[in-house]
Amino acid sequence: MIGEKKVLFSGMQATGSLTLGNYLGALKNWVSLSEEYECFYSVVDMHSITIRQDAPQLRKRARDLLTLYIAAGLDPEKNCIYYQSHVSGHAELAWILNCFTYMGELNRMTQFKDKAARHADNINAGLYTYPVLMAADILLYQTDVVPVGNDQLQHLELTRDIAQRFNSIYGEVFTIPEPYIGRVGARIMSLQNPSKKMSKSDENPNASIYLMDDPDTVIRKCKRAVTDSEGVIAYREEQPGLRNLIDIYCACTDRTPEETVKEFDGRGYGEFKMAVGEAVVGVLKPLQERYVRLSQDKELIDRVIKENAEKAGYYAQKTLRKVQKKVGFPERIR
Ligand code: TRP
Repeated sequence: MIGEKKVLFSGMQATGSLTLGNYLGALKNWVSLSEEYECFYSVVDMHSITIRQDAPQLRKRARDLLTLYIAAGLDPEKNCIYYQSHVSGHAELAWILNCFTYMGELNRMTQFKDKAARHADNINAGLYTYPVLMAADILLYQTDVVPVGNDQLQHLELTRDIAQRFNSIYGEVFTIPEPYIGRVGARIMSLQNPSKKMSKSDENPNASIYLMDDPDTVIRKCKRAVTDSEGVIAYREEQPGLRNLIDIYCACTDRTPEETVKEFDGRGYGEFKMAVGEAVVGVLKPLQERYVRLSQDKELIDRVIKENAEKAGYYAQKTLRKVQKKVGFPERIR
């Protein structure tokens, strides 16, 4: 708890351009949570270097992502928006937690296995202990809830195990975090293969709508989206492409699938796809305008970076000092 509020932590990596899926599935909901919780939203740049990065590009993308958090509607006065690498406590706690994590546990992480297979030439120790750094992110702020996608649930489960293990040895040091369950974000699928999640790393540019796509591109991608030959606008499993488009439409217009099916009853796919494209443009255009305006305001962004790193650092130190004392590090002499 910070004051009256429970603590919420989440983070995103600044690798690749964000997609509509990242926005509708995560960012948009983060905004709706910021009144109820004390929120920490990190740009987790330390996680990014587990895969080889071009330094100037990573730096630029990290700043772009931080700016995008604000453009999406996160008020940087109310939400702690900061770079993970600016708060040294993440690395310090991660080291300690490494000593409370078993290799057997890390061996079971499915994301590690996937990534190791995809980057066989660089299976570094950081990639392996990535989930421990993530545990440190979360536990450093005494986090109560973590909104994460399915792909990160296993890491959150590990975080809870590590925290419980530590607490059972040293007493109640860490808050045990829960996954955020509530109005979960829309799960947006690839426009070209509706059995796959929309991803920022898809090789097919038509599969994903990027947040910075211009209106023509958005409409073109929607028109080309894979559907079926049923010819009926219905929301059902047998028509996954169409169902995904309905999900996108609903998330962009705050309608329900039932309302949407009714609205387009008897109309063709072409017309519906056009409406989806326009709905997406309706969401992306104001976001892009805010983003452009904000990125030109260097002073504002710099101030957010500095002040929020200080704020995060303050809470991080509180937890870290407690942990260091518990494990037996000598006291500092002042
Ligand atoms: N691993 C997460 C991802 O790739 C990002 C992340 C890092 C994160 N630390 C976190 C998410 C802590 C939630 C909480 O999506």
